[in-house]
Amino acid sequence: SMSRLRNRVFEANREAARFYYAALCSPQGRKGLDYFHSRALSDRTIRHFGLGYADDNWSSLCNHLKSKGFNDSELVAANLAVRHRNGNGIYDRFTDRVMFPIIDLRGNVIAFGGRIMSDAKPKYLNTSDTPVFKKSANLFSLNNAKNSGKRTLILCEGYMDVIAVNQAGFTNAVATLGTALTGEQAVLMKRYADEVIICYDADEAGQKATARAIPILRNSGLNVKVLTIPSGKDPDEFIKSKGNDGPAAFKALLDKCGNDVEYRLQKLKNAHNIQLTEGKVAFLEEAAKLIATISSPIERDVYSSKVASELGVDKNAFKQQVSRVSRRGE
Ligand code: CTP
Ligand code: MN
Ligand code: MN
Ligand code: MN
Ligand code: MN
Repeated sequence: SMSRLRNRVFEANREAARFYYAALCSPQGRKGLDYFHSRALSDRTIRHFGLGYADDNWSSLCNHLKSKGFNDSELVAANLAVRHRNGNGIYDRFTDRVMFPIIDLRGNVIAFGGRIMSDAKPKYLNTSDTPVFKKSANLFSLNNAKNSGKRTLILCEGYMDVIAVNQAGFTNAVATLGTALTGEQAVLMKRYADEVIICYDADEAGQKATARAIPILRNSGLNVKVLTIPSGKDPDEFIKSKGNDGPAAFKALLDKCGNDVEYRLQKLKNAHNIQLTEGKVAFLEEAAKLIATISSPIERDVYSSKVASELGVDKNAFKQQVSRVSRRGE
């Protein structure tokens, strides 16, 4: 039955996580351990996240799990193995990769991400959806974050970001699993948090993903802040580049990050040349439109005053512009 298969998939995943972890700690796993050390992960962090190593043999995991009593269909259902095209038997899905187990809120291993240790592609290979795993409804490390004692989550792009942020002392980090943030994930976050700090990569893709994530989080009733990583890096690279000062440097970014409205106003400002009259007027018109979308009148007032004084224009004139735009939108 389906529930029996689900249980077998959970058990196979748990045994696979043990196998990958043991391999990482064995002499044969030296390459994987060296890789994680080169990424500045400590042995404690590696153990805490149960990271592992899938060797370059196409049948080592399958052989191990078969010796533990799992059959071909169970391993294929778990997406730990793939059927040969000619129909003769199965082979390991993950080879020659370091492994990141994905653990649900009950402590079950539900999936894996595997990273290649070279520049080859694909960089990450993830478990496809299975009877126990729906990518769009889960978050990496939510099992750790829910025990952080904080009602704030730090939302990152990737596995390594979450792990580096954890190692720096912030256990309330999570990541989507290689996909755009979904409404389902936002609802899940709202169960454990009131506030989300978006901490995506500083590149173009990360900025676009930030713009898309803001309304999704807002719609779930979460307060949103945006942390901007300096000099084009991602959180992991930033922390690593600061060496021993990584935790303090990241804390400083957390402390100074603004909310979503401040972030969007700053982006608007950067997009216009406010030294020129035309640019200034264009910025103010766009800013008024943005502020008009805020539902709280007090918040609208605060941002209106702030923008007007920063740009050196009459506060009442700017507030009138905001009211005019909001009335038009009603
Ligand atoms: N990702 C994926 N498949 C890829 C590339 C990325 O699933 N081929 C997902 C992974 O979850 C990855 C995240 O998207 O962690 C963010 O991608 P990227 O920024 O490119 O990778 P990093 O997390 O920075 O990975 P690393 O630091 O190991 O290079
Ligand atoms: Mn193998
Ligand atoms: Mn990225
Ligand atoms: Mn990275
Ligand atoms: Mn990245």
